[in-house]
Amino acid sequence: MAKGKVDALLGIVFGDEGKGKVVDWFTPHYDVVARFAGGPNAGHTIIFNGKKFVLRSIPSGIFDAGKLNIIGNGCVIAPDLFMAEAKELETAGYSLSDRLVISRRAHLILPTHRVLDRAYEAAKGKDAVGTTGKGIGPTYSDKAARIGLRVGDILEGFEEKYARLKKRHLQILSDMGFTDFDLAKDEALWLEGVDYLRRYRLEDTEVVINRALAEGKSVLAEGAQGSLLDIDHGTYPFVSSSNTTAGGVCTGLGVAPNKIGRVFGIFKAYSTRVGSGPFPVELFDATGDRLREIGCEYGAVTGRNRRCGWIDLVALKYAIMINGVTDLVMMKSDVLDTFDTIRVCTAYRKDDMIIDTMPYDTAGWEAVYEDLPGWSTPISNLRRKEDFPQAFCDYIAYIEHNLQTPISIISVSPDREATITLREV
Ligand code: IMP
Repeated sequence: MAKGKVDALLGIVFGDEGKGKVVDWFTPHYDVVARFAGGPNAGHTIIFNGKKFVLRSIPSGIFDAGKLNIIGNGCVIAPDLFMAEAKELETAGYSLSDRLVISRRAHLILPTHRVLDRAYEAAKGKDAVGTTGKGIGPTYSDKAARIGLRVGDILEGFEEKYARLKKRHLQILSDMGFTDFDLAKDEALWLEGVDYLRRYRLEDTEVVINRALAEGKSVLAEGAQGSLLDIDHGTYPFVSSSNTTAGGVCTGLGVAPNKIGRVFGIFKAYSTRVGSGPFPVELFDATGDRLREIGCEYGAVTGRNRRCGWIDLVALKYAIMINGVTDLVMMKSDVLDTFDTIRVCTAYRKDDMIIDTMPYDTAGWEAVYEDLPGWSTPISNLRRKEDFPQAFCDYIAYIEHNLQTPISIISVSPDREATITLREV
């Protein structure tokens, strides 16, 4: 947590690693908390003062009066959903307008982007990505095509720009023959959201953040989704549409690579995935159901069942490499309390070929496991490493050795106090 540096907190598998819980543990140590990629496809569940919040676009530092929060240029923002999220926080007593700065370069998710998301998914049929339906892909597509609307556009000539892009989208939908939508209600709320957004600090956040760094402030870049959903490094095409990895911190906030400090990589003691796409460790049996049930693995945004499996060290090794992870954070270890044997995927097999590095396409590869003894005792009430059962210590040591990266923080229950530091962070 060096002054004048940006530390990154990244989910390094398929998202849903429990960032919401640790970010709340991390934020007191930082002056600024910034989101650099993604949008309302994220759902960071945070319990604060006994109340549960699901943050989608707003950084998790918002609960802490002294923090500056930034939605960076790499993010996409849906004004109507932002308004709902912000109002809920305001009603609960957290004031935002003085503590939240939104990049003028962030792109706007239009109501028609959400319709396009559905239309493209429907057109893909069995090859659908299983998106969150929040319009993420179409918005980033328009950004790359250089026809998108940015937050800064709502300050000048907005109506004309909006009408032009909407017309273009409606033409695409008409060409596709997609008629399953009713824009009127969605659009009215969205326009209200645009008005609401105007009362916020809409600024060049790259300047704000670099000024803070020059003043010696510490910044936490709060990741969304997970590394294997990265548009470049994930399991393409079953990915999200932004750079969710460490490189995205630089481009999504406008900070130079030499400003990055530590990179915290979060993962669960087992694996989950939402939506479609290859998942070599997926369990289709009662063990998978048990992991889902004990781990409450149901989506925060869509409510969908998460696909569950054992931990995947091949995927983790890859994610550590592309992110430059300095510290691992292992979540939900207690979910494994009742398993006599814990399986660990150390390689992938296809026919008679065995590899221990991530292939270009993980489809068709199956997991090769090593079996470790479970600890078969509840660990959620433990708060010191010295009290951990030996089999749990062995599990930690096995992962650290295999990944050649230290696990610095470990979580053994949903409680806030159950986040245990194993080495200085
Ligand atoms: P999109 O980001 O809505 O386009 O969805 C693309 C893929 O990423 C789908 O498989 C989603 O389920 C997945 N996804 C997007 N956001 C999250 C997240 O925050 N957690 C887990 N999966 C996500």
